[in-house]
Amino acid sequence: MERLANKRILLGITGGIAAYKAAELVRQLRDADADVQVVMTEAACEFITPLTMQALSGHTVHTDLLDPRAEAGMGHIELARWADLILIAPASADFMARFAHGHGNDLLSTLCLATGAPIAVAPAMNQQMWADRATQKNLLILQEKGVHVFGPGSGDQACGENGAGRMLEPEELAQHAAEVFDYQLLTGKHVVITAGPSRESIDPVRYITNKSSGKMGFALAEIAAEAGARVTLIAGPVNLPTPSRVTRVEVMTAREMYDAALAAVADDCAIFIATAAVADYRPAVTADHKIKKSTEEIHLTLVKNPDIVAAVAGHEHKPFTVGFAAETQDVIASARTKLAKKGLDMIATNDVSGQNVGFNSDNNAVTVIWPGGHKVLPLASKRQIAKQLIELIGIRYQG
Ligand code: PMT
Repeated sequence: MERLANKRILLGITGGIAAYKAAELVRQLRDADADVQVVMTEAACEFITPLTMQALSGHTVHTDLLDPRAEAGMGHIELARWADLILIAPASADFMARFAHGHGNDLLSTLCLATGAPIAVAPAMNQQMWADRATQKNLLILQEKGVHVFGPGSGDQACGENGAGRMLEPEELAQHAAEVFDYQLLTGKHVVITAGPSRESIDPVRYITNKSSGKMGFALAEIAAEAGARVTLIAGPVNLPTPSRVTRVEVMTAREMYDAALAAVADDCAIFIATAAVADYRPAVTADHKIKKSTEEIHLTLVKNPDIVAAVAGHEHKPFTVGFAAETQDVIASARTKLAKKGLDMIATNDVSGQNVGFNSDNNAVTVIWPGGHKVLPLASKRQIAKQLIELIGIRYQG
């Protein structure tokens, strides 16, 4: 089931008594960390209310092809593009017939035509209807199109008859849905990443910070999500959009980042990557009002911030912990010292004395070091560096 983590499932519900089981199916899919949106045909709404499905899926339910409100938000083409899998459960005989013959006369059939995602149907109907030659012909057409067919099962039917045509149970359907997806490097793993600077207030208008833009950490979050991970991105104050399928937690200070990191680590975190440039010190006191310019000198007392990555590495449920090191001299030796001192599994060090790498640049060049080995990742875009780094982390994590 972990293959469903982070996957976007569009659940189509058509008219049939088995529609009530779609509620439990949504629960099963969401328990496996899939994001679920629901599309219902007019007939489906006679069996179960859109409100129920909205409450369970956490999204507005889509029912109409020509709904101006829906088109202004997520239109049908966008919805078709959004899905990683369209699962129609229950799929009635009528829907299978319309789908087999390429009809686009309601939202669900249109989505099936417009999507590039895999499609699966879970037939549910009376046993005579299932055995009917027309239904069996439609089934063949759908199978030839590459549509996955889950079930149907056999047994007692709501109409009092007995035979093939029962929709599979929600748990079986969720399992079949998971099997549509391949295992990826980080499938189902919770990856927590810190990014950007921290900001430590001196008074209401002044603060101590650094030049981190968040670009390196955001690139890592994007690539980790693409590799199948469930990603929590703990971001300091930066001006970047949240990558797709990533949960962003916004923080300001090092202490907020520390709290957010430890909370995320307690949530079954497999891999922790500390990309953030955390302020090592903060003002001992934050003035309540703007400090006046009255004297020639002003003295700030700074106190040490907690070391986030060291605390994570020392956690009783320690994840595979990766640090970064921003160095301007003795780059490799200093990183090796940090690797050992902070108890890390791996560290990526960048020489930030140049203009083209490190802080705020779109590029980076790092040397990745772990106990007993290292690898140089030469100058490339931060996305390219993130790709290589996530692959290395995935391999060493599994090893
Ligand atoms: O954000 P960008 O503009 O894209 O720039 C990327 C980057 C240069 C910030 C990034 O590549 C990088 O080097 N990040 C680490 C910066 C840093 O603070 O390095 P450090 O050597 O001071 O810290 C070592 C490690 O300890 C880091 O993983 C850091 O996140 C962590 N740390 C440091 C202090 C602290 N209080 N808590 C920590 O967790």
